[in-house]
Amino acid sequence: MAEQTFIMIKPDGVQRGLVGEIISRFEKKGFYLKGLKLITVDRPFAEKHYSDLSAKPFFNGLVEYIISGPVVAMVWEGKGVVATGRKLIGATNPLASEPGTIRGDFAIDIGRNVIHGSDSVESANKEIALWFPEGPANWQSSLHSWIYE
Ligand code: CMP
Repeated sequence: MAEQTFIMIKPDGVQRGLVGEIISRFEKKGFYLKGLKLITVDRPFAEKHYSDLSAKPFFNGLVEYIISGPVVAMVWEGKGVVATGRKLIGATNPLASEPGTIRGDFAIDIGRNVIHGSDSVESANKEIALWFPEGPANWQSSLHSWIYE
């Protein structure tokens, strides 16, 4: 199967009307949207998603932020999508993100950094299984044959 990553537009990104802009950047790069839902998650779910960070001092604030409103959860697919998706997103701290990246263009606060992207193929697989237990959308191969060699 082609490489996939999990991308989440966080509550601030949804509230600020950045959903279309963000989806557009991933589409224009050439990645395929394989799953998408607008969903408000509860505390246990958010704690599970960020379980690797449970010892961090910002953990509770992070969980409060993620459950504060709907998020857009997505699966994107394509060559190198995990690493290249992270490049499109930019550095975790928006003040260190290059202009031209999503965080570099739209955020200034590490605690309100608009978007999440899996940091490795392994975390992508874990996060996709958590957020999309129902599995991927069923694309017809004829619809996307233009990009695969
Ligand atoms: P994300 O890519 O979702 O991965 C972990 C998240 O933790 C990160 O984006 C930020 O939203 C958050 N985070 C990381 N470091 C800090 C920090 N120092 N203060 C507040 N939030 C942080």
